[in-house]
Amino acid sequence: MTPRHKPYLTSGAAFEIGLRPLATEQWLDIGPDHAAFMAAKRARLAGRPPLYYRSLERSRPAQAELLRLAAQHLLAHHGEAFSADGDTLVDQIDGSRHELGDGGREPLDVLGGLVEEDFVLFAREEDRDIVIAASNAYTSSGRIVSCVGRNMHFAHEPVPGLNEQLGPRIDRVIANVQPGKPVVRFNWFVTPISSRLYPPTQEDYAGPAAAVAQQLAEDHRKAGEMLWLRVEHQTFMRLPETGALAFGIHTYSDPLSSIAEDRASLAALKQLIGSYSDDRLDYGGMLVNRAAILRWIEDRLVPA
Ligand code: HEM
Repeated sequence: MTPRHKPYLTSGAAFEIGLRPLATEQWLDIGPDHAAFMAAKRARLAGRPPLYYRSLERSRPAQAELLRLAAQHLLAHHGEAFSADGDTLVDQIDGSRHELGDGGREPLDVLGGLVEEDFVLFAREEDRDIVIAASNAYTSSGRIVSCVGRNMHFAHEPVPGLNEQLGPRIDRVIANVQPGKPVVRFNWFVTPISSRLYPPTQEDYAGPAAAVAQQLAEDHRKAGEMLWLRVEHQTFMRLPETGALAFGIHTYSDPLSSIAEDRASLAALKQLIGSYSDDRLDYGGMLVNRAAILRWIEDRLVPA
């Protein structure tokens, strides 16, 4: 199956703002593994573990508005997968039922079990955009959830050079997202981790990643099966009533072999991975596999 999004085809410099208008119907997506993915996501988020979920009390109105808009969106644009039964949303794919008006649960918690996307809510406070709630199931670092009560600069501190190069521009574009005009950007990586939800701890990740790197150093021809194209579809939507900003992340994962016949994607990845600095590749976990990825691509680009 070919990847749903191919942001590398239009990626340029190492770090990009890269915001584009988002067609409203593309806000939320439902993948082919929806039932299995949602079961794993719900298991992770059950009980709101602090690694994956945190919210400030003052985020409740924004949470409620976001849940309402997401439910409306699912009914309007994913009617094949969701239906309404009074105040309950029914997932027709796995049969699960989601009580929207359940006062006992936080709306963002309900939303986490309903949609594949992770969500972060920002509020404009004292002229700064502050993270007021986050539900982030795919992580193994807890970085996004640890941003609650803080701003974007804190979120981006682990990325070498990002705040220095783009920090003030990122603040400005986030502050300028207008109601009714959602925007989208992408991040992408080539990684040995296949699952959309990362292993629970970074230690669980390190061992298998090192084993893959070792095998690829010995035989780059295995890269297509051992590496994965991980793409994050990141949406930014200003909520009209509360004025909060909803940042949504949908993660896609496809084997590198899914682009084996796609010369445009191969050429784009070759150009980008070949030109990124070691720091940039290392941060994304790609440095250790750079040589194998480039050799695998070159094998495919050789004219028949
Ligand atoms: C216009 C808005 C944004 C831009 C331009 C941007 C840009 C970036 C870039 C370039 C990276 C490095 C990833 C890579 O190597 O491809 C990154 C990572 C990251 N971003 Fe953003 N970002 C934006 C919004 C956000 C928002 C709203 C959050 C939510 C808190 C966020 C949280 C993060 C985190 C947690 C990382 C990874 C840090 C880590 O390694 O732990 N970003 N961002």
